[in-house]
Amino acid sequence: MRSSLIHKKILITAGPTREYLDPVRYITNESSGKMGYALAETLHELGADVVLISGPVCLNSSFPEENITFVKTANEMYHACLKHFSSCDIAIFAAAVADYSPKLTSEEKIKKIDEACFLELKKNVDIAFEFGKVKTRFQQSVGFALETNDVLTNSKFKLEKKNFDLIVINSPTHNQGFGHDTNKVSILSKELYLDHFPLKSKKEVAVDIVQAIEEYSILNEA
Ligand code: CTP
Ligand code: CA
Repeated sequence: MRSSLIHKKILITAGPTREYLDPVRYITNESSGKMGYALAETLHELGADVVLISGPVCLNSSFPEENITFVKTANEMYHACLKHFSSCDIAIFAAAVADYSPKLTSEEKIKKIDEACFLELKKNVDIAFEFGKVKTRFQQSVGFALETNDVLTNSKFKLEKKNFDLIVINSPTHNQGFGHDTNKVSILSKELYLDHFPLKSKKEVAVDIVQAIEEYSILNEA
């Protein structure tokens, strides 16, 4: 069956970001990028026009490299996304963007001189929030939430704050989330419909998410 997402322009962020202390040291997180890449592959196979903005990952992917912009820092990811904010039909924020970065980045390698070393961090730009502010009624956005407590309340808060249409909720328990090949998700819509899915491979989860996006788009076009 022909997908309603064929030829739709879809912006996807994936992977972690790196926040540099000096030329060889950085703060990062455990994100593998697998979920974002699985979404990019699934949507590309359906005939969507996918632009993938990727942090540093180490993956074998069938997604065409010419459609990927590789970035390192949250700030670079934001500026790469900004180029596509007004032209995309759907934005999917699957990246684990670092929330903070060092206030100062040394151009030279930091030397081990003092007994103690203090690190001052500053808040990074929230890419999904920025998109939520400028998004038109013809555009949709999908976010992810990884929560350890008050899962539904925190996810609902993020959905509203970032003006998402759908939020994919996953929890960092055994065999799920960061680095794993499997994931167990629930999808919450803006209208507060909640769908639970069983533990599946990330590729299968990507198919479920894409199907939820298709159904949501059709409902909102009607
Ligand atoms: N996100 C983003 N830019 C950021 C931080 C988050 O685009 N600087 C996106 C993520 O890609 C995800 C969603 O926002 O789709 C929620 O990310 P999350 O880290 O769960 O939420 P935060 O708002 O950063 O809140 P916290 O980490 O305190 O829970
Ligand atoms: Ca965060």
